[in-house]
Amino acid sequence: MRIDGHILTPLPEGGTAFFRDSSLEAGTDGRIAGIGEGSGAEHLIIPGLVDAHVHLPQFRVRGLFTEALLPWLREHIWPEEARFVEDEYAAQVAREFRAGLVAVGTTSALVYGAPQRESAALLFDALRPLCVQGGDVLMDRNGPEELLRSTDETLESSAASLERWGRRYWLTPRFAPTCSGEMMSGLGKLVAMKQSGVQTHLAENLDEIAWVAELHPEARSYADVYDQFGLLGPRTVLGHCIHLDDDDLALIKARGSWVAHCPTSNVALGSGRMPIEKYQTRGLRIALATDVGAGPNLSMLDVMRSCIEVHRGHCDLRPADVLRMASLAGAQAMGEGNRRGALVKGRALDAVALRVPGGLRAGEHGEAALLRILEGFEGRYEDAVVGVWVGGERLLAI
Ligand code: GUN
Ligand code: ZN
Repeated sequence: MRIDGHILTPLPEGGTAFFRDSSLEAGTDGRIAGIGEGSGAEHLIIPGLVDAHVHLPQFRVRGLFTEALLPWLREHIWPEEARFVEDEYAAQVAREFRAGLVAVGTTSALVYGAPQRESAALLFDALRPLCVQGGDVLMDRNGPEELLRSTDETLESSAASLERWGRRYWLTPRFAPTCSGEMMSGLGKLVAMKQSGVQTHLAENLDEIAWVAELHPEARSYADVYDQFGLLGPRTVLGHCIHLDDDDLALIKARGSWVAHCPTSNVALGSGRMPIEKYQTRGLRIALATDVGAGPNLSMLDVMRSCIEVHRGHCDLRPADVLRMASLAGAQAMGEGNRRGALVKGRALDAVALRVPGGLRAGEHGEAALLRILEGFEGRYEDAVVGVWVGGERLLAI
């Protein structure tokens, strides 16, 4: 099996490679065997895209904006997540979500499930063969009754899920306001024992931050709450991180935690602009994410486009920068950084073929072509994606 086209990929050692008119050769093990000669195909081949923060149970209610984060959660999100107690409903949405991911070339994702114990199984079973990690979202206070589980049940269920699924299962405390200190402390103990992954939200919105300050007067900051409970480490992925001070940045850097940057979501909920230029200077690790359903669109191409746009004038991100954050960096955040995220020999053949409007121009670099795709297909990225492979298996045909 081989995939012909113009190949553009971030390189694990840094930089970006572009191979005009080439082919990606697959070994029988679903890995990339090498890059060979092409046959004139005009597609741009990039690594399978990686979404570092996305909510499966919000897929059907994506893009429903209200004034801000907290009212939006209460009015739109929590009632929808409550519906996932019905297995048939949950399975149906999971099928739609999987089809949605494939259609936009997302081959790996770190996913928030619904707040029911069985939701983790749904992520791992229904989304195959995509590379999916994540867990059921955990809440034991300050939410509607039907979404809360007791602290004991949450901790017992989390420990059992870690036993059952190992590293694929991520502890997913929703955010500090809906998690008791006792719960976060128990989760911190699991992290210390099992080095488990943790995904949560941090500093997305000013009302949320004020709420956390009220609930945790003992903490120096919101980030410090998570740190005191032992939830910040190299396998922690923090969604949003918009409003942080210098001490928070130093803390996150010291812990080696990842930032999942969600520009389309931040625009949609009016949460503010994450000062990415500062985070880059401080050496924070940043991956891109849709945050569907606050993000209105499941496409990482849309997130890449938005990322360039929202930071223009603050820092000039190139197409190669956003491609890296939407592929290799996401894979690294998920602990898949040696196996996926780049079109390099020996890695899983996770790839996407994109339509280049009018074909590659004479002397045009793949980065310039990618920019034309990001700008030209805005609002209809499914039309840009013409082929998708995961581990060498073709999920969408050219
Ligand atoms: N903070 C707590 N829960 C959520 C959620 O589901 N989405 C977003 N964007 N922020 C949150
Ligand atoms: Zn989120």
